[in-house]
Amino acid sequence: MRVVLGVSGGIAAYKAVEVCRRLVDAGHHVVPVMTDAARRFVGAATFSALASEPVPDGLWEGGIPHTRLGQTADLVVVAPATADLLARYAAGMADDLLTATLLATRAPVVVCPAMHTEMWEHPAVEENLAILRRRGVRVVEPASGRLAGGDVGTGRMAEPRDIVACVAAWFGAPGDLQGRRVVVSAGGTREAIDPVRVITNRSSGKQGHAVAEAARDRGAEVTLVTASVLEPPPGVRVVPVESAADMEEAMRAACEHADVVVMAAAVADFRPKASAEAKIHEAPDLVLEPTPDIIAGLAARRRPGQVLVGFAAETDDAMARGRRKLDRKGVDLLVVNDVSAPGAGFDHDTNEVTILEPGGRATVVPLQSKRAVADAILDRVVARLQGESA
Ligand code: C5P
Repeated sequence: MRVVLGVSGGIAAYKAVEVCRRLVDAGHHVVPVMTDAARRFVGAATFSALASEPVPDGLWEGGIPHTRLGQTADLVVVAPATADLLARYAAGMADDLLTATLLATRAPVVVCPAMHTEMWEHPAVEENLAILRRRGVRVVEPASGRLAGGDVGTGRMAEPRDIVACVAAWFGAPGDLQGRRVVVSAGGTREAIDPVRVITNRSSGKQGHAVAEAARDRGAEVTLVTASVLEPPPGVRVVPVESAADMEEAMRAACEHADVVVMAAAVADFRPKASAEAKIHEAPDLVLEPTPDIIAGLAARRRPGQVLVGFAAETDDAMARGRRKLDRKGVDLLVVNDVSAPGAGFDHDTNEVTILEPGGRATVVPLQSKRAVADAILDRVVARLQGESA
């Protein structure tokens, strides 16, 4: 693809150098376009050397560069997109080569915002982004981490590898989940005892986040309903939740039109019957009640053709418990996760599972990265979507 890489003036411009290199490595023809402010952070020579393409000087160089760039682009990626660039783009201004190119193009546009947290949370920025989203612009959300000047917070540009992964997922060769709506739940829910304490479990959310990322990379439109405190993968719609009740509501809404539902969350099975309004100072007699079985509810109301995946985190007799759960929950795939096995389960970066299906099929997935396990699960999901049963 011919990709115009727009670079605006923030400190993350130094990371745009790597975005450029990775896009070139992925086989794209990259034309870098820098704003004047971007040139204060990085030299144009760096981009032109990586892209083997001169960086155009500006609007006033010969040959009407903005229309040429806009018309010939297959994709425009703006990384970083500063608050100023987003404002000018949303307002339809065309006062430099980058904004003029953005107006002149009919190609899809991806923006990768980067700015300080206060600016990112400002209503002006939120409204500008909402306008751009409504016009079809794709957004690779910023992450949280270290910002200019040593501050820490949300607003840091997504990592170059994630930006390029989003580009590949959205505009690359169609993956086997292209056009499919996938909803993933992740993390351990937290059930309030009082405003200060919660009951929770050891789930980190890593496996669920890996499933969301893998589904994104295979072309799906992903919604991630997460109780995890980990950074979610970019390029997916994130619905943060805390309790089983929150998760039930969010999943119900998200799953209505979903093709695939992967319930990787470790939903609390029990919660305090009542949670105190103020901090408790004496050891309470906790009375617990069962939480709603979210996945059973989803199974009962699922739309035709929807593939439903459950998990079973067990410490003993995992396979027998898994088989019983497969029947009881009415799911198409049940991922049995023996969390007592070395290197598997809670908070590890690796996992080892067995995927059970009605009819007796069992796929053993040996110890490997959670991302690779996620792809093995999605391989079976795709097979079921294509009508293959056990
Ligand atoms: O019964 P158990 O908690 O082991 O079942 C695990 C599976 O059921 C997981 O997919 C989990 O996300 C889901 N679950 C649920 N609602 C609950 C408890 C578990 O959807 N209240």
